[in-house]
Amino acid sequence: MNGSTANNVGALWLKIAVVYVLIGMLVGLYMGATEQMQYIPVHAHLNLLGWVTLALAGLVYQIFPRMAASPLQRWHFWLHNLGLPVSMVSLALMINHRPALLPVVIIGAIVVFIGMLLFAINLFRNAKA
Ligand code: HEM
Repeated sequence: MNGSTANNVGALWLKIAVVYVLIGMLVGLYMGATEQMQYIPVHAHLNLLGWVTLALAGLVYQIFPRMAASPLQRWHFWLHNLGLPVSMVSLALMINHRPALLPVVIIGAIVVFIGMLLFAINLFRNAKA
């Protein structure tokens, strides 16, 4: 990845993060309006893993271009953005009377975890100007 592409990485992460927070807030508004609080775990994780974690990672990639240029950044991006939607949709369905989906929720969560592990490795290796 060349320098200018790496410089845009933070903006991409932030744009995706803001989509998650809009969806997460809509779930919150739906829960509040319909008094269906069983969806709290979906709401909380969309906002915290979708918005807070992705936005924070985007800012870190923006601060440290070496991290943004690393292949670990691309792996992190795809693992997080595949694992989280799979985990959240299956969690919502699981709450909605489909308990057999628990393994899918867990697999999605493990994929997100592996992405975060790669972020940690990237941070320790490349968090320098
Ligand atoms: C339009 C914005 C939002 C709305 C309407 C909303 C709505 C709600 C509602 C109705 C609950 C359930 C409260 C209860 O236990 O009775 C809740 C819980 C929660 N929300 Fe939100 N929320 C919003 C934004 C956010 C954001 C931005 C975050 C995090 C960054 C967040 C994190 C959480 C967490 C962690 C819980 C669980 C709290 C607990 O169980 O103790 N929410 N939200």
